[in-house]
Amino acid sequence: MSCWSMENFKEQPFQDQSADELLAASQLLRGATSAGTANIYVFEKDGHRYLVKSFARHSLLSRWFFGRATIGNEWHILRMLESAGIRNVPRAFALLERYTLVMEFVEGNQLLSAKHYTADTKPPVEFFEQLRQCLHQCHQAGFAHGDFRRANLLICNGKTPCILDWATANYCQPNVFSWRFLKRWLHRQQRKADRYSMLKIIDDYYPQLLTEDDRIRNQPSWLLRFGRYLRYHLYRHGLKEWLGRAHHCDCHKK
Ligand SMILES: Nc1ncnc2c1ncn2[C@@H]1O[C@H](COP(=O)(O)OP(=O)(O)O)[C@@H](O)[C@H]1O
Ligand SMILES: [Mg+2]
Repeated sequence: MSCWSMENFKEQPFQDQSADELLAASQLLRGATSAGTANIYVFEKDGHRYLVKSFARHSLLSRWFFGRATIGNEWHILRMLESAGIRNVPRAFALLERYTLVMEFVEGNQLLSAKHYTADTKPPVEFFEQLRQCLHQCHQAGFAHGDFRRANLLICNGKTPCILDWATANYCQPNVFSWRFLKRWLHRQQRKADRYSMLKIIDDYYPQLLTEDDRIRNQPSWLLRFGRYLRYHLYRHGLKEWLGRAHHCDCHKK
């Protein structure tokens, strides 16, 4: 993506490298917050920085249960997004031993809630216009993100959005019939959830960018409500402790 100067970037031969070697040479950026999230590392080679998401040091159960599905899915989705010409996403370079994903490290700042900015530091209108366009483009091309929130958005060069974390994304080829009704239904729900979250985010900064129609039609999807319910009632009060951070984060090994 030109805005973070990837034009002269060559695919690196990560295939010859084991996940263990790569992780040993990487720096931990953020340990897993639960069994369902990856350890995040930065790897540097030949003056380039890579972002590495890995379940390789998780327990067998979380590797098998969460790692395979989420890391594998993100790898495939990022490759497909690149083929579809979607530019505001990181490029994926390699999937090592099924649990470790190597992608472009995108230089940028995470989008914070509006209260953290002053009138001078607030991201410009252009950022949100591009964000809206980009999400629309993804949906038109058949991709639903499924976890669209501020923590997964970066502001690059002060105005360009980058959408991260495609682990829960879902692809359905547009205008093609498929018998996979459940997948298609989930895809519709995810698209609605993406749209709802995007408009809520924009509303937080520039309410004037939302039309009357946006406000009337924008209702939280069934999936989003169910997700919230699970997060508050199951995950926060019990499941999170049970899945525990300490077992999955290898910060102590560093
Ligand atoms: N390609 C990337 N470039 C730069 N930072 C990234 C990249 N991918 C992820 N990050 C950083 O790592 C954090 C966690 O990554 P994410 O993919 O959202 O994993 P999780 O599933 O644990 O939420 C992000 O909020 C962002 O700060
Ligand atoms: Mg995330």
